[in-house]
Amino acid sequence: MTRRAFVAGNWKMNGLRAARGELEAMLAGAAGGDVEVLICPPATLIAEFSAATAEQAIGIGGQDCHAAASGAHTGDISAGMLADAGATAVILGHSERRADHGESDAEVRGKVDAAWAAGLIAIVCVGETEAERDAGRAEDVVATQLTGSVPGGADAGRLVVAYEPVWAIGTGRTPSTADIAAMHAHIRNRLRAMIGAEAEGVRLLYGGSVKPGNAAEIFALDDVDGGLIGGASLKATDFLAIVAATA
Ligand code: PGA
Repeated sequence: MTRRAFVAGNWKMNGLRAARGELEAMLAGAAGGDVEVLICPPATLIAEFSAATAEQAIGIGGQDCHAAASGAHTGDISAGMLADAGATAVILGHSERRADHGESDAEVRGKVDAAWAAGLIAIVCVGETEAERDAGRAEDVVATQLTGSVPGGADAGRLVVAYEPVWAIGTGRTPSTADIAAMHAHIRNRLRAMIGAEAEGVRLLYGGSVKPGNAAEIFALDDVDGGLIGGASLKATDFLAIVAATA
């Protein structure tokens, strides 16, 4: 099955309104090419960036949402609010949220349901720590995260899975291409067990220290359908080079 390449930029807690120039440089360079491109800026920029990118080659996404539709949750943002601001997707269960905010698989799953109810694509993040990999437990950890975080009714149109080994995020270190390929095949197999044939269409992204220099060899691997890019998504030149590496 052909899956359309997908490259998402996760700006994390970086970017003021002045960063719109960087977005515009990305827009100027991203036109054309059969790849879905998404920028997930901080929530403060979603509405403005969505307006700036409307009908163009870059979509805008959120970095988290609450599982509830509304209510007394000071500081949180619902999936419906993200959609209302123009987002089309949301990153859920990123390891920084799992670590900094103690998000469990069950909480992530509730957020995925909320994202779908609001019409958003859910980009569900999974990945092992270095200690878990060293202990030979990486595949088990990821399988548990997938089973716990992905709701049963998942389909390829609204689920994207990002494999992000925690020890590769922001460190400049990446797994070997053989290890990435093996984990992505494992994830595809787990999804087959969970959702049957629908698994063939789910885009699987690799994330963790993807740069212009290593993107092409990672994206060329079987079952790697694109990337979730942190640091290198903040600069248009780097991000566009990574997007071009999907071709
Ligand atoms: P990085 O982050 O590209 O800076 O390693 C990836 C991520 O956390 O999504």
